Amino acid sequence: MKKVITYGTFDLLHKGHINILRRAKEMGDHLTVVISSDEFNAIKGKTSFMPFEDRKYILEAVKYVDAVLPENDWEQKIADVVDNEIDIFVMGHDWEGKFDFLKDYCEVIYLPRTEGISTTKIKTDFKEKAE
Ligand code: CTP
Repeated sequence: MKKVITYGTFDLLHKGHINILRRAKEMGDHLTVVISSDEFNAIKGKTSFMPFEDRKYILEAVKYVDAVLPENDWEQKIADVVDNEIDIFVMGHDWEGKFDFLKDYCEVIYLPRTEGISTTKIKTDFKEKAE
């Protein structure tokens, strides 16, 4: 069985998220999605609209997703890959090159982002419409 892993916050789930989850799952048989915990977001100076448990609950209902785990710090990726026997690590190309150190442990693939959509854009657009 080929196992794939990907990371992100996945707040206010949108088409770009579904697209990357679909393409990641198509690369193997099992997809693990590791999502930033609320504590990790705070370390990064970010706040998600949806708390961790809600983001996890929603992702678990997506047909491409087999498992959802928390990301609690920057340092856990090697252990995640080794412990979960991951074959392929997938990220959007906004992270191009940033995780090449994982190539010692698995295949590392950066996929093109979906144009014109992001959680940040949804928040900005919504704010503008509400004004
Ligand atoms: N992603 C994508 N296409 C988009 C938006 C996100 O392929 N239009 C991918 C990212 O490259 C990442 C994953 O989805 O691999 C999770 O991204 P995340 O940062 O949670 O989503 P964004 O919408 O980029 O959130 P933000 O605007 O807060 O950065």
